[in-house]
Amino acid sequence: MIPKAELHCHLEGSIPPALARALAAGNDLPLPDGLFGPDDTYVWRDFLSFLGAYDRVCSVLKKPRDFGEVIYSYLARVAAQGAIYVEMFCSPERPKALGIAYAEWVAALADGIDRAHRKFGIVGRINIICIRHLGPERAQAMVERMIAEPHPYVVGFGMGGDESKFDPADFAPAYRLAHDNGYGCTAHAGEVRGPESVWAAIRALPVTRIGHGVRSAEDPRLLEELARRGTVLEVCPGSNIALGIYPDRASHPLHRLIAAGVRVTLGSDDPPFFRTTLGAEYDDAGLDRATLRAITRTAIEASFADAATKQDLLKRVQP
Ligand code: ADE
Ligand code: ZN
Repeated sequence: MIPKAELHCHLEGSIPPALARALAAGNDLPLPDGLFGPDDTYVWRDFLSFLGAYDRVCSVLKKPRDFGEVIYSYLARVAAQGAIYVEMFCSPERPKALGIAYAEWVAALADGIDRAHRKFGIVGRINIICIRHLGPERAQAMVERMIAEPHPYVVGFGMGGDESKFDPADFAPAYRLAHDNGYGCTAHAGEVRGPESVWAAIRALPVTRIGHGVRSAEDPRLLEELARRGTVLEVCPGSNIALGIYPDRASHPLHRLIAAGVRVTLGSDDPPFFRTTLGAEYDDAGLDRATLRAITRTAIEASFADAATKQDLLKRVQP
């Protein structure tokens, strides 16, 4: 099995329907109406209704331990697919709404990461992610909290949510603060919006990676700039196709990005929502084994883990 590393997966977006049901039952909470269709998959129609479904599955979470269970179970599943490293996007918005203290939530996630490491050898790390449509003040407060209560597994800062709201520049102070305090930075861009969204992110934010960024393929100058900077795109083809950004794998720009010299990694984004897995992303990428191995190496190099952890992981990718 090719060793795999994932830089783009969202914590609550990784919850399979069976785990959502178990968490709801364990917490004595109802499952939100209309969350699942008759075939036991998440129901959504387009990007915004997907974000709505994502919010709804969060309602099954209640205790710090639930968050630890979600990350543990994801790491267990992808370890079985050959993953050796996962950097998970974790938003403090949900625990905050539940009245769970930040440090308690991070400790629960770290416990899940430690348990998965002991059992499967997989290494997990956390990127704190703000939600773009909730605005820059919330992002700023999040970074201040992350810095005030550091944890060795919290290695980076990112931004998801609705790309059509606000400008990346609005978030520049929050990103600058994270960057100046040693956190790696990434931002979703060029997913539902075009190349201008990626230009705005790389010009305004201290990012070394872009979440998705696939629509950069529409602008040759941007491709050149990304290749020149060595900016890494966290590409999630299954997610893009499920969301209708591209009709099928043949029209997905993954191969064109690689041909243009842009560094890419493979991720699953919100796997059960998009009926994909990290293993399926590697299997269905249409790339040879040497290229897939090189993609894992790129992911480790572009990860926000410390240098010693990266060295250990890179050794595990040798053929
Ligand atoms: N949050 C979870 N998945 C997302 C995606 N694909 N784009 C933006 N925000 C997200
Ligand atoms: Zn994402």
